[in-house]
Amino acid sequence: MLHNKKIGFIGTGNMGQALIAGLIQSKTAKPDNIICSDINKKQLEIVKNKYNVLTTTNNLKVIEKAKIIIYAVKPQNLFFVIKETSKLLNSSKLIISIAAGVPLKAITEILNKKLRLIRVMPNICAFIRESATAIAPSENIVNEDIELAKAVFDCVGKTVLLEENQLDAFTGLAGSGPGYIFMIIDAMADAGVKMGLSRQDSLFLSSQTVMGAAKLILKTNEHPGQLKDKVASPKGTTIAGIHALEKGKLRATLINAIEAATNRSIELGKNIIK
Ligand SMILES: NC(=O)c1ccc[n+]([C@@H]2O[C@H](COP(=O)([O-])OP(=O)(O)OC[C@H]3O[C@@H](n4cnc5c(N)ncnc54)[C@H](OP(=O)(O)O)[C@@H]3O)[C@@H](O)[C@H]2O)c1
Repeated sequence: MLHNKKIGFIGTGNMGQALIAGLIQSKTAKPDNIICSDINKKQLEIVKNKYNVLTTTNNLKVIEKAKIIIYAVKPQNLFFVIKETSKLLNSSKLIISIAAGVPLKAITEILNKKLRLIRVMPNICAFIRESATAIAPSENIVNEDIELAKAVFDCVGKTVLLEENQLDAFTGLAGSGPGYIFMIIDAMADAGVKMGLSRQDSLFLSSQTVMGAAKLILKTNEHPGQLKDKVASPKGTTIAGIHALEKGKLRATLINAIEAATNRSIELGKNIIK
């Protein structure tokens, strides 16, 4: 899909590097088809040594050479970098921003021209190539651009196509979601310790159980309610545990958490536009 198209990164921090690693490890892109820039010279040296990609401290060089450009700087640096590079941006380039919470409208206003712009939100699991990633295109995007963005971000997990106005809900569910699951795993491990398992065994067992249950849903495509019914036998242990979870309002608590995170994402987005 990428047909040897040069991919450029502006910013080679945590997420930039996760993407570079994913592209190379999945053999989607060769190192010499990746060019990156960063103001942090030490960071660039690490990236050069680790991945053998082309590096520069000049952001404009990336724009000149690349056909797909991924802006992977922090949201507070994005507007400066867009302003700095906009003179070299034209419709031959696909522009991707991964800056959390920065709306397409805000970027378009700074660009002051209609370009092929996509907003993408990966999550932290991109570091192990298991991200749940949302792709939200702007109005000038054609199907081929979406396929290109998919080809890049499928290297670090799985992608879904969303409308931009769904990204706050995405953030509440999948952006912040790993944080909830970390808490759940930690709590399950505490429970295992309380019931007599070692901390090490308990943490391993709770993590492996969460991963196995998630994989079972994804691989069988069965509804989680159906799978739950399968493991809950009459008068058995699982139904006793489920009853305790219902008493503790697990479902309502999780729904409240995702609603709160979505609302916070909306609030932060409004501040960025201001
Ligand atoms: N990390 C995540 O889990 C995650 C998840 C979803 C989305 N994102 C988004 O991904 C983006 C990058 O996040 P990150 O965690 O990778 O940040 P990061 O580790 O701080 O990386 C950003 C890099 O950009 C560099 N930089 C700053 N200003 C620059 C400029 N003017 N020109 C070129 N490079 C510049 C930084 O250098 P200095 O360190 O010297 O400033 C740093 O090396 C953010 O917008 C974030 O919202 C991150």
